[in-house]
Amino acid sequence: MSIKFATAYANPQPSGMVKIFQAIEKMDGVLNLSIGEPDFDTEPDIIDAASKAAHAGFTHYPPLQGFLDAREAVCDYWKRHHKLESTPDEVLFTAGAIQISYLVMQALLDKGDEVILIEPYFGPYSMQVKSCGGVPVPIKTTEENGFAPTKADLEKAITPRTKVILLNSPCNPSGRVIPRKQLEDIAGLAAKHDIFVVSDEIYESLVYKGEHTAFATLPGMKERTLTMCGLSKSYCMTGWRAGYAIAPAALTNLLMIISANETYGLNTLAQKGGAYALNTQDAKLIERKKIFIDRMNTTVARLNKMKGITCASPEGAFYLFPNIKGTGYTSEDFVWKLLEGAKVGTIPGNAFGASGEGYIRIACTQSIDVLNKAMDRMEKFLG
Ligand SMILES: Cc1ncc(COP(=O)(O)O)c(C=O)c1O
Repeated sequence: MSIKFATAYANPQPSGMVKIFQAIEKMDGVLNLSIGEPDFDTEPDIIDAASKAAHAGFTHYPPLQGFLDAREAVCDYWKRHHKLESTPDEVLFTAGAIQISYLVMQALLDKGDEVILIEPYFGPYSMQVKSCGGVPVPIKTTEENGFAPTKADLEKAITPRTKVILLNSPCNPSGRVIPRKQLEDIAGLAAKHDIFVVSDEIYESLVYKGEHTAFATLPGMKERTLTMCGLSKSYCMTGWRAGYAIAPAALTNLLMIISANETYGLNTLAQKGGAYALNTQDAKLIERKKIFIDRMNTTVARLNKMKGITCASPEGAFYLFPNIKGTGYTSEDFVWKLLEGAKVGTIPGNAFGASGEGYIRIACTQSIDVLNKAMDRMEKFLG
C-alpha cells in the first residue's frame, strides 16, 4: 500500500542543514563545526538534583504549565540578570525552546497572517509559520548593518496582515547582537502597527559585547512580547529538551492549553534539574562564556589570515559567520568542498535565508585544539 501523505508533505526535502548533518554522519574523521550544541556535559550537580527528585517520587506527570518552583526560578533568573519583572502565571515550560515558536504561531496566526523574519534566521521558524497557515516575510539584512534590520526595511515589510515580528538576538547563525537603539526602533514600530513580538533570547547568557537587552523590558513591550528561552545552550542541557516562555498570562494560558494536546507538559525531571540550574549556576555561566570567547577569538584570528575570508568579531552566541565571498565559491560549494576535500563540517549561510549567501556558519562548540586543527585544514584547502 502506498501511503498518501498530506499535500503539504507530498514531496518532503531535507533542509540544507539536515543534508550536511546526514553527509557528516556517513564520513569518518570529520572535524565537525556544524553543530549548535555545547560540547560540555551537563554539570554533575544539575544531574544530582534531577536524580534526587526522581528518588523523592517526582516520576509522575508534571503540572501542564510547569512546576511552580521551576516557574519561580525562571522569574528570579530574568529579574536577576535582565531586570525583567514577571510572575509564575506568565511562564510556561515546553519541550525545548523550539516548541515555543511553534505554539505561539498556532496561538496567534489566522490563515494568511504574516510573520516578519529577520535574515539570516534559525531555519525552523519559517516552516513553523507555514504549518500554522501563516506567511513568512523574510527581511534582508547586510553584514554592514550588523545583520540587523534597518527601520526603513522593517517599515516597508509591514502590511495590514503583519501579526508577528520574530527576533533572535544574539543570533543563530550570525552571532550578532541587535543594538538597543535598533530594538527600540522595532518596539516603536510594533506599538505603532499593533504587532506582537516573539523574541528568541535563547543565547542571552552568551553576550560578549555590551549587555543583553531583554526586548520585553523596553517601555510598553512586555504586554506584546513573548520571550523565548531554554536550558539547552546556557546550561549544556540540550538532551533534556527544556524550554520556557515568558509572556502575558492570557497567552501563556492559551499556549498551555494547546501544548496539552501535544506534549502533556515538559518532563518532570528536566523541570527539576532545570529549576536547580536556573537558581545555582551563575558563576558557571561566566566561566563557560570565557571559554567560548577564547575559542571564538582564536578562530576569528585564524580566519582573518585566510585568503578570501573575513570574519567579524563575535558579539554573542557561539557562532562565527565568516564572509567567504573573496574565495569565489558560493556558500554551498564552499561547504561541500570543504567537507569532502578537507573533512571540516560547517553550514552554508544560505540555509538561513538569502542574506546568508556568501557566508558559512562555524559553531565554536569544540575545544580550541579541534578548532585549530580545523583551521589548519581550511587553510590548506584554500591554498
Ligand atoms: C535561535 C534558536 N532558537 C531555538 C533553538 C531551539 O533550542 P532547544 O529546542 O534546544 O531549546 C535553537 C537551537 O539551536 C536556536 O539556535
